[in-house]
Amino acid sequence: MSKLIIPKVIGHRGACAYAPENTLASLHTAADLGIEWVEIDVKLTRDSVPIIFHDEELNRCTNGSGRVAETDFKTIAELDAGLWFGDSFMGEKIPTLEDALNVIIDRGMNVNLEIKPCPGREVETAEVMLDFSTRIWPDDQPPPLISSFSHVSLETAIDVMPEWPRGLLIDEFTPDWRKFAKHFDAHTLDINGNTVTQEQIEAYLDYAKPILAYTINDPARAKLLMSWGVSSIFSDCPDVIRDEIEQFHWGVQT
Ligand code: G3P
Ligand code: MG
Repeated sequence: MSKLIIPKVIGHRGACAYAPENTLASLHTAADLGIEWVEIDVKLTRDSVPIIFHDEELNRCTNGSGRVAETDFKTIAELDAGLWFGDSFMGEKIPTLEDALNVIIDRGMNVNLEIKPCPGREVETAEVMLDFSTRIWPDDQPPPLISSFSHVSLETAIDVMPEWPRGLLIDEFTPDWRKFAKHFDAHTLDINGNTVTQEQIEAYLDYAKPILAYTINDPARAKLLMSWGVSSIFSDCPDVIRDEIEQFHWGVQT
């Protein structure tokens, strides 16, 4: 089993309180803040280029429009992905997975790669993402954490790269979560930290793997979750959360 150290704070979409989400600027900002791990969302363009982008539509985070799954990389590469966030980020691009991984590696960080498939592309997105990532990621570094809400994508991750650890993303508590966690041999349970209850955390703790909570920007909520047993927090402002929770033991091991 892969050994990985997951810090108490993971930068969400880079450090997206300070820079446009899922851009190279956001990754550099996280690194500048001394953040050790970032989370990014991976999906495919129409012509199957793996890019870092959260939404199915281009509208919110670029000056373009339409669906990612219906847009070729050539068009996507021309879009501005920074101006919506602030004038100083004008010219920022939607990164390819390759560009993002190279920044993450160069800056000495590790990454949670969330497979975020457009509907119907669950298998292909996982296959392409892992094909690129495994070729780029240095053999002598701890592996990335692979996660998804899509069970089909996680199944594909097991087929393609069983050695890389998997996180099971759980938005809402359901009685069958344990069945899926065991099926996917989940190394982490990545849960919605804003809606989870202490009782649910106690159930998750019984699985005896790290619990990662998304997306928490309120230090008081982060501290409460950690007092319940959550190991790590995804945050848009990871520096704020890190500085506030310093009294907790640093890092968890699986
Ligand atoms: O992986 C944690 C978190 O990123 C999951 O939700 O919608 O922000 O990708 P979302
Ligand atoms: Mg995500």
